[in-house]
Amino acid sequence: VGFNREFTINLAKYLPLPLWEIMTQAAQAATARGWQLYVVGGSVRDLLLAKQEGNKSPAMQDIDLVVDGFDQTADVGAGVELAKTLQPLYPESRLEIHGAFQTAALLWHKHPVLGSLWIDIATARTEFYPYPAANPEVEASSIRQDLYRRDFTINALAVRLTSNHAGEVLDFFGGAIDLKERKIRVLHPNSLIEDPTRIYRAVRFAVRLRFTIEAQTEAYIRYAINSGVYQRSLLAHKKAPALQTRLKTELKYILQAPYWERAIQLLASLGALQCLHPTLQLNQKLWWLLRLVDRWLRRFDRQDNLVHWLLRLEVLLLGLETSDRQSVAYNLQLPNDSLERLSHLETYQTKIESGLSEFEQVSQIVKLLQNYDLPTLILVALRSEHRPTRQTIWKYLTIWKQVKSPLNGNDLKTLGYPPGALYKEILEDLLAATLDGRVSDRLTAQTYLAQKYSL
Ligand code: CTP
Repeated sequence: VGFNREFTINLAKYLPLPLWEIMTQAAQAATARGWQLYVVGGSVRDLLLAKQEGNKSPAMQDIDLVVDGFDQTADVGAGVELAKTLQPLYPESRLEIHGAFQTAALLWHKHPVLGSLWIDIATARTEFYPYPAANPEVEASSIRQDLYRRDFTINALAVRLTSNHAGEVLDFFGGAIDLKERKIRVLHPNSLIEDPTRIYRAVRFAVRLRFTIEAQTEAYIRYAINSGVYQRSLLAHKKAPALQTRLKTELKYILQAPYWERAIQLLASLGALQCLHPTLQLNQKLWWLLRLVDRWLRRFDRQDNLVHWLLRLEVLLLGLETSDRQSVAYNLQLPNDSLERLSHLETYQTKIESGLSEFEQVSQIVKLLQNYDLPTLILVALRSEHRPTRQTIWKYLTIWKQVKSPLNGNDLKTLGYPPGALYKEILEDLLAATLDGRVSDRLTAQTYLAQKYSL
């Protein structure tokens, strides 16, 4: 249960001053109770990585603290108690308490220097304390257990804030070496069976930090996937709603990140797309569609608030049979419009394709396509084997959808047409005539009207 006491980081040098001050206050409050306090998780990883590479401090907006309350009675709520003690010192912060997990958080929406800041304060979770906190080994046993529950060695490092050993890095599982060697390594073989979202996290960290997944961990990943445990738990939505939600969150992180392409490739090469569905594979066609959808996303982003990660996920699910696609989307609890699209895509596609093959006039095409929202049209365009369909949809979205009639209701009034239900008909007619090239400006519009509608 050892760690190297020589390994320290001077947090005062790395943390922005106001954050360092909050940490110092927190450490003092913990010390006053006889508790130990640690920073753990992602922020420690990012700090040590910055130190190692000689970079300046990373953005620190999510800080995880763990309090070790030592005796079982205090242990129950040490984190919550500490947060309650700190909050009054920072009136501009907000206190949030999650009773079920015995965690609390202090949140700043607009910290004057740090921007948004979120400090989670948890209590070290441990089964029991065999001895009073006497020697350093026992002292550290509960934080060690707390860290042992975590996903990867690089995320299981802690920095002590309290005692005369402040700044000491607690590295029980070799996280520091893995940071140096840029390796993603689980702490124990069961880690991925316990929590399948960790496979996606492994990929996310590997790609984002430019690390590799260590060989044994990769073997565990493949073993876990091949065991079928995820398919059993993930497909049974009723049994695993929390798991589905967390998997969706990981998918979202990955698919909205600038590195999504590398991440999807790595997931595919590990066989991890099978966690979504056993038949899902990244073949050339699907890869091509994923790349292609980016072109559409870039082009139409400003036209509509397209949700990039969701549309990429929908495209990924195009690799499945309709009924499988539907059940995966349902299990992941995708939003209703997304479920709707993915379920009825074939029908929409048939309607659109048969309409397009039949209609000759632009106005007819516009009338057909305006029944569908932008994501649906994009999916139909991508899916269509028929190139002209894709080109027509592109033309509709880039040009025809923007076309307006040269005259509006006010113009009709000025021209002397009596206001009423007829306006709608006239304006639609004018728009169609414009789309079809029979009207091009105000003058031709007026001539067209004069021939067709008597005053
Ligand atoms: N964690 C875990 N298993 C998970 C999710 C999280 O063990 N499925 C642990 C990790 O040790 C992680 C910590 O909980 O460091 C906090 O989770 P999160 O905020 O998601 O991770 P960060 O490492 O902070 O990642 P990021 O830098 O992307 O915020």
